[in-house]
Order: sequence, then C-alpha cells, then structure tokens
Amino acid sequence: MIIAPSVLTADLADLGNACGEAVDAGLDWLHLDIMDGNFVPNLTFGPPVIAKLRKALGDEPTFDAHLMIENAEESFQQYIDAGVNHISVHVEAVKHLHRCLTAIRAAGATAGVTLNPGTPVEAALEVLSEIDLVLVMSVNPGFGGQSFIPTVESKIRRLREAIDAQVAAGGRPVQIQVDGGVKAHNIAMLREWGVTNCVVGSGLFNDKASVADNLSIIHQALE
Ligand code: DX5
Ligand code: ZN
Repeated sequence: MIIAPSVLTADLADLGNACGEAVDAGLDWLHLDIMDGNFVPNLTFGPPVIAKLRKALGDEPTFDAHLMIENAEESFQQYIDAGVNHISVHVEAVKHLHRCLTAIRAAGATAGVTLNPGTPVEAALEVLSEIDLVLVMSVNPGFGGQSFIPTVESKIRRLREAIDAQVAAGGRPVQIQVDGGVKAHNIAMLREWGVTNCVVGSGLFNDKASVADNLSIIHQALE
C-alpha cells in the first residue's frame, strides 16, 4: 500500500518543512491538492510553489498532482514543468478526457482519472487502458478533514475486477487510489477492497502527533 500524504491540513505557512517531515518519515509520494476556486470552492497553490518544493526536496519523492481545476487540458504541462511526476484530472472537469490523458502521458508524466463520489465508475472503465491510476474520491473535493463516504465500496470493487481482468489479458496494471477521510481505522478495509494507494491528509498532519508517529499507527493497522 502506497501512502500519499496530502499537506492540505499541514501548516501551509511552513509547507516546505511539512513536506520534508513526510519525506523524513519514509514517505516517497507527495499528494499535491491543486484547487482553482472554480471547480472546487477553495484555492491552494500552483506550479511556482511546486517548482520550489521540487528544488527543496530533490528528485526522489513522486509528486502526485490532484488537479481540482477547470481546463486542466490547457495547464497540465505547467505542472510537469514544475516537477510533477503524476497528474490526476477530474472526469467532471475535462471536456475531452481521452485526449487529455493521452497528452499527459505523451508529455512524460503518468496519468490518472478522478471520480467524485457522485460520478459513476464507467467513466474510468472507458479509459482504463490509457491510464496508470484511478483516483476514487471518498469525500467531495475541496477541503481536508471530511468524513469518509462508505458507498465508494462498490465503485472500488468494480475497478479492482476490471483492472485484474485487464492485467490477466496482458494489459497495463492500474493503481486504485482513494482520497478523503482515510485513517488508521479504515485503511485495512480499503486494502481488502483492492485499493493500492491511499491519500492521507488529516490522518498524518494534525496537532495530535507527529507525521512519523501517525504513520506508524497506520502501518500497525496494515500489519
Ligand atoms: C480533498 C483532497 C484530499 C484531502 C485529504 O479535496 O483531495 O486530498 O485533503 O485530506 P483528509 O485525509 O483529511 O480527508
Ligand atoms: Zn486530493
């Protein structure tokens, strides 16, 4: 199970150190929540901040950009240029999904499709052979610290089946990433459903304990 820390609930005035804390705790993915104030009712940061983070953290961590923005087809290249390795776009925000995913991969990044809780799984199944990851939102995007929506189970199980069938037929493996309300108490259940990659925000970045201590509680839950 890959744990992808989301820094949304970290001290954003000290973003570099928050990311550094996650890397020092042994996490090699960094989930970057990019919000534009249009697709979602919140604003975060963009390519210039990501470029500085890349410089501060070096080449090692995988930068996973979750683009909660309109017109991602026109701006994804800026994120790649800033040092992003993986880009997930929302099916609800992209007009020509297949074209956009193909373009992201042609530009040298891995590509993912994101499904809001109310979006049917079929949108991802249509492009399964073109992608590296499906991001299943288990909260409505826009804010950290929300509660996990359990009805995503059927969506995840459908994806697991479809991906297993694709791999058995010689096709590409695709990660299933879940984002929103993932904590030590539900992460083992998610693995059982077939999830391979969990975004964890407030479960890692909170004022109760350090990232390293929170991470070891999550690792215990997975033992
Ligand atoms: C929500 C973001 C998530 C979220 C995760 O729009 O995509 O990455 O911040 O935070 P928690 O784990 O606190 O739900
Ligand atoms: Zn996210």
